[in-house]
Amino acid sequence: MKRASPPNFDQSAFKQALSQFATGVTVITTRAASGQLIGITASSFNSVSLNPPLVLWSLATRSASMPVFRANSHYVVNVLAASQLDLCKRFATVKGDRFEGVSHAEGDTGMPVLDGALAWFECHNRSRYEEGDHVIFVGEVERCGVHENAAGVSPLVFQNGQFHGLKPL
Ligand SMILES: Cc1cc2nc3c(=O)[nH]c(=O)nc-3n(C[C@H](O)[C@H](O)[C@H](O)COP(=O)(O)O)c2cc1C
Repeated sequence: MKRASPPNFDQSAFKQALSQFATGVTVITTRAASGQLIGITASSFNSVSLNPPLVLWSLATRSASMPVFRANSHYVVNVLAASQLDLCKRFATVKGDRFEGVSHAEGDTGMPVLDGALAWFECHNRSRYEEGDHVIFVGEVERCGVHENAAGVSPLVFQNGQFHGLKPL
C-alpha cells in the first residue's frame, strides 16, 4: 500500500478547514479515585455503533485530565444546550474546581450528570487509541437520556470558532 504524502498545508490552514465542520458541544465528566469531579469541554464527540451502543471522543495527550480519563472505568458525555454556553467556557478554561456552583446529579454509574444537559450518555471506558497528539476514547453506553423538553431546547453549536444556537432551515 502507498504511504501518505507529507501535508501541503500548515497547521493553521488545517485548523481553519476543520473548523468549518459544525459540531455540537459536550462536557465529558468523571470522578477521580480521590472523589474529585473532573470535566472537560469536547466537540470531538460522535456516534460509532448502535449494537453494541458505542460512542467516541478524543482528548489531547497534554490534557491535565488525561491520567484520570485513562484510569477511570466510567465517564458521562453531557450534550450542551445553547443556554449552557457558560458551562462550555467554564469546562474549557477554569483551572481550579470546575464543578464549583455547577448543579449536577449522580448518574446510575456514580458519575456526575450536568443539570439541563440536552442529552447524556453514561459510558464504560471500553477502549482507547493513541493517534497523533490525541487519544480516541471509545465508550460503551450503559445509560442515556434526553432533556424532558428536548424538542424545545436548542443545542449549542460550534463552527469557525463561534458559538450558535440552531434554527430549522
Ligand atoms: C468548543 C470547544 C471544544 C473543545 N473540544 C475539545 C476536544 O474535543 N478535545 C480536547 O482535548 N479538548 C477540547 N477542547 C479544549 C479543552 O476543553 C481544554 O483544553 C480543557 O480545558 C483542557 O482541560 P484539562 O487540561 O484540565 O484537561 C475544546 C474546547 C472548546 C471551547
